[in-house]
Amino acid sequence: MKVAIVTDQPRAKFLPTEEGVVEDKQKLETIKSIKEVLSEQFNCIDLVFDDNIITKLKKEKVDLVFNLCNGIRGDSRLSQFPAILEYIGIPYTGSSPLGHALAYNKIYSCRLFKEAGVSTPKFTYVYDLEEVENLNITFPVLIKPNDEGSSRGIHEDSLVFNMKDLRKRVEKDLKVYNPPIMITEYIEGREFTVGVIGNGKNVNTLPILEVDFSDLPKHLNNFYSFEVKFHYADKTRFYVPARLKKKSKEKIEKTAIKAYNALGIKDYARVDIRLKDEDTPYVLEINSLPGLMKDHSDITKMAKACNLGYKGLIMNIVRNAVERYDLDKKMEYKIG
Ligand SMILES: Nc1ncnc2c1ncn2[C@@H]1O[C@H](COP(=O)(O)OP(=O)(O)O)[C@@H](O)[C@H]1O
Ligand SMILES: [Mg+2]
Repeated sequence: MKVAIVTDQPRAKFLPTEEGVVEDKQKLETIKSIKEVLSEQFNCIDLVFDDNIITKLKKEKVDLVFNLCNGIRGDSRLSQFPAILEYIGIPYTGSSPLGHALAYNKIYSCRLFKEAGVSTPKFTYVYDLEEVENLNITFPVLIKPNDEGSSRGIHEDSLVFNMKDLRKRVEKDLKVYNPPIMITEYIEGREFTVGVIGNGKNVNTLPILEVDFSDLPKHLNNFYSFEVKFHYADKTRFYVPARLKKKSKEKIEKTAIKAYNALGIKDYARVDIRLKDEDTPYVLEINSLPGLMKDHSDITKMAKACNLGYKGLIMNIVRNAVERYDLDKKMEYKIG
């Protein structure tokens, strides 16, 4: 079987800030690690998703794509490459255009969570600065882009306690990110993230990871802002498996799976959760294309905590995709 790992063109070309540069660096690291794993069992190449991708995939006679493409532009950019693959009929890992589009849009995600009976923060959104004046909200609120990731656009000053700061931050975000800008109820409480793997009736969770902010310097807020994620990583503690009583653990796992199914996610994803009042899991978002860096990514830490390990995680993702497409017949080697 021939597998192509496909990634985006450099994001910094389109988002020329620190956020874009960080994203590109992570990308290169990830390709290298996944290629090491896949090369052990498959003929593995890596390609860039650019104007020539259809020609390249056909020329290389690729059987399966390991999709790492976030897309470059547009509010459904994660869906762009899967849509092309569906068009040319090449199987790929992870969610379909629909699952990615829903997961990448935090407003649609939250609507569907609510409909599925999954607790999620109250929210509203604005397309322009004037709309802020008419909002009827209870502070504090957290302001965030509707369609970003890795805390891009979620900064220390995104948590606001009054109208003046709300206006200031919304104005900043509208200049850089796609409208609408989301304004969400701020959920106090411990933060967890849950790896979910599988399809249909066979969906399971990895050990829950807790992100503990209690060692952060006092001037920083207790949430995963861009500053905390990338400048204070050494002051953020991770507990995996998370320190949870059996009942809370089960509640979080059940909630994560319910949220995963609500958006029609495939193969794997990571669900971000805050535990309100030490009791109710609130789903913040689903990462339908979670980071897969060998040493730093959350889902990798989870895999290492349950003996699956990095290699097992990557192979599990491939296995799930293969089973979905019934690719087994084509396989030269047994997966596992
Ligand atoms: N409603 C909320 N209440 C409390 N914290 C939040 C809320 N929404 C986001 N956060 C914080 O911001 C971080 C990033 O938000 P998230 O929705 O996961 O976006 P991203 O796609 O950038 O990871 C979360 O990990 C959490 O710490
Ligand atoms: Mg998140």
